[in-house]
Amino acid sequence: MKKEIVLSGMRPTGTLHLGNYFGALKRWSEVQSDHDCYWMVADLHSLTTLESTADIEKTTLEMTTLWLAAGLDPERSTIFLQSAVPEHGELNAIFATLLPTSMLELNPTYKEMTAEHPKSGSFGILNYPVLQAADILLYKASRVPVGRDQEPHIEITREIARRFNNKFGEFFAEPHALFSETPKIYSLTEPEKKMSKSGRPDSYIGLLDDEKIVREKIKGAITDSGSEIVYDPEQKPALAHLIDLLHLSSGKPIENVVSEHGGAGYASFKTALAESVSAMLIPIQERFRSYKPADVKNILADGTAKARAVAQKNLGDIKEKIGLLNLK
Ligand code: TRP
Repeated sequence: MKKEIVLSGMRPTGTLHLGNYFGALKRWSEVQSDHDCYWMVADLHSLTTLESTADIEKTTLEMTTLWLAAGLDPERSTIFLQSAVPEHGELNAIFATLLPTSMLELNPTYKEMTAEHPKSGSFGILNYPVLQAADILLYKASRVPVGRDQEPHIEITREIARRFNNKFGEFFAEPHALFSETPKIYSLTEPEKKMSKSGRPDSYIGLLDDEKIVREKIKGAITDSGSEIVYDPEQKPALAHLIDLLHLSSGKPIENVVSEHGGAGYASFKTALAESVSAMLIPIQERFRSYKPADVKNILADGTAKARAVAQKNLGDIKEKIGLLNLK
């Protein structure tokens, strides 16, 4: 049977953290064994909000190396660079004709991004979900593993697929988001916000943070009042997030985490959490250091060649479906 096509992407905007690992990379690694997977470095998307591209080459290679270190496997998945597949831009131009601008202006992430980057205010931000739809539909992906924050973009992708089919005849299946069941990872210093690389450095644990830094950051993490370790996401959300982290990093069920550390107090709980997080990160960091930049570039080049071949074939079919003159 033909495997389902899965595609997702991430913008190379700096170091990855535990939220990226549990929310995306760990799941991506799991789905790659029984799906036809495409993992895309969304470098064109990162241009919409980056103030400077001075570091983009470095962050692109670093992020790709972390993907490999975290378990993405170029033998089983296609790992590729968006900007090196020009068909994304071509399909973007086609899709840009299908939606009224007003629909894009209503997109909640458009409002958020323009609020966060008032200087930018570019057409690229408005166009962001249209380019994302092109990323997904260019490979005819049917499943898109993303965080809940991406839901509006998947809805717009489905709308574009429907409108294309109505206008030019049935072609695209509407893709579905695959949301993670994993608990969300929150900021260590502002536990009501999600962990984010745009937060303070001590608010997130980077995948490359060493043991000492992990210990310090966890030591400084906000907890709720009291001293007992109880799992109560309503009354003690900050502590519940840390318990989630110990559960996720150790693989132990929440009940066991609580019963093991219940009476021991915050300090010893935090020590155990720091050890568990480091024990998980160290092998990833060792693999990270084992890659030479030239090897990573080759892996990305091979994946991109594979992706491009599929993109060219599918874009050819799309143009034919529209009825554009074929000069070949
Ligand atoms: N917008 C996504 C994010 O910020 C990244 C992305 C770009 C993406 N293209 C995609 C995700 C296609 C899934 C599919 O997380």
